[in-house]
Formats: sequence, structure tokens, C-alpha cells
Amino acid sequence: MLNLAVFGSGRGSNFQAILTALHQGKIPKVAIRLVISNSSSAGILEIARTHCIPAVHLSQKQFSSDDTYGDALFSLLEEHGVNFIVLAGYMKRVPARLVGAFRGSIVNIHPALLPKFGGAGMYGMRVHEAVLEAGEQESGATVHYVDEEYDHGEIIMQQRVPVMAGDTPGTLAARVLAAEHELYPEALRRLAAQGQEKQ
Ligand code: GRF
Repeated sequence: MLNLAVFGSGRGSNFQAILTALHQGKIPKVAIRLVISNSSSAGILEIARTHCIPAVHLSQKQFSSDDTYGDALFSLLEEHGVNFIVLAGYMKRVPARLVGAFRGSIVNIHPALLPKFGGAGMYGMRVHEAVLEAGEQESGATVHYVDEEYDHGEIIMQQRVPVMAGDTPGTLAARVLAAEHELYPEALRRLAAQGQEKQ
């Protein structure tokens, strides 16, 4: 059973897609135990609260050191029985201690076909602008394991979308986001079926 903590900083549409898939019975052996955001006003916390899922605003800024922040994060995860972490629009670097403890049980989604168009600074509209500037004929979404480098861990699944004539970063972003909403629940379904949670 994957007992998830979902980390996000923004609107939470991927989290919503996972939640919808769960409610539709499409991803058995997955439960959402906790949502964490570094931003108190993030939509993802709002969505979680609407569904009575524990939702916590936790930011490094609330702590005097990396260690005390890490301790708080670990005790929250333990308290809620979390054995798998899903990053869904999380804009902060995950503490290395957490990556180490959850290696192979922490995943992210990126709005491009990694290894292209990833890494530091490649987020939001910048990704789609770069794809269009490079004249790519296709883009897509990637679900990958998280390691110590941004957008670098092993690729789990990808979904491709075409780049269309006349695309703007906005139209391409919308097409990629729709692909993300299919891809992330499906990737979690597969990982749960394979028993990829932290033992
Ligand atoms: C998505 O495009 C995801 O690929 C990226 O951040 C965005 C999050 O969007 N990592 P949302 O908060 O899930 O709507």
C-alpha cells in the first residue's frame, strides 16, 4: 500500500487529478495521508482540507536550522504513516536527508520530456518557452524518481503531446498539463501494483 504525502506549492491540479482517480477507484493500493506545502496560501492545501485530508503548511523559514526543519518533516511523515512521497508542483528543494531516506519512494512530475528541458530554473512557463524556442515537434510530461539533482532521477513514465503550429507557451502548457493529469495517477497505479513503497 502506498501511503502518500503529497508536497506542493501551488494550485494543486495534479493533486486533484490523483484524488479524482482515487475516488474513481482507478488507483487501488494508494491512499493520501498528508499534504504539505511551503506556502500557506497554496491551492493544494485548500483542496486537501475540502476533502478532510490532513494539510500542513511547513516551511524551512519557520525553523532556526536545517536540522530542526528536517526533524519536524520526518515526525510529520511518521505521525501520518507515510511511506511514499509525491511532489506535485513543489517549488522548494527537498532536504537531502529526506531524499536519502525515501530513495526509490519519492517521485516528481515535470512538464517536459526529460532529460530535455529540466534542471535548475526550468519550471513553469519557462519550460514551454524553451521547448518552442528550440523548435521541438513534441513535448510532454515525465514522472521520475527524485534524487539530489533537480529533474535528474530515473524516469518512470512519460506521456508525449504534439507541439502544434501557432502554439504559444500558454497553449502548449495547457496541453502538457492535461497529459500530466492522466500520467501521474497512472504512474502511481503502476508503482503501487509493483509495491514501490519504502519498507
Ligand atoms: C506542473 O506543471 C508540474 O509538472 C510542475 O508544476 C506544475 C504543478 O501544477 N512540477 P499543479 O500545482 O499540479 O497544478
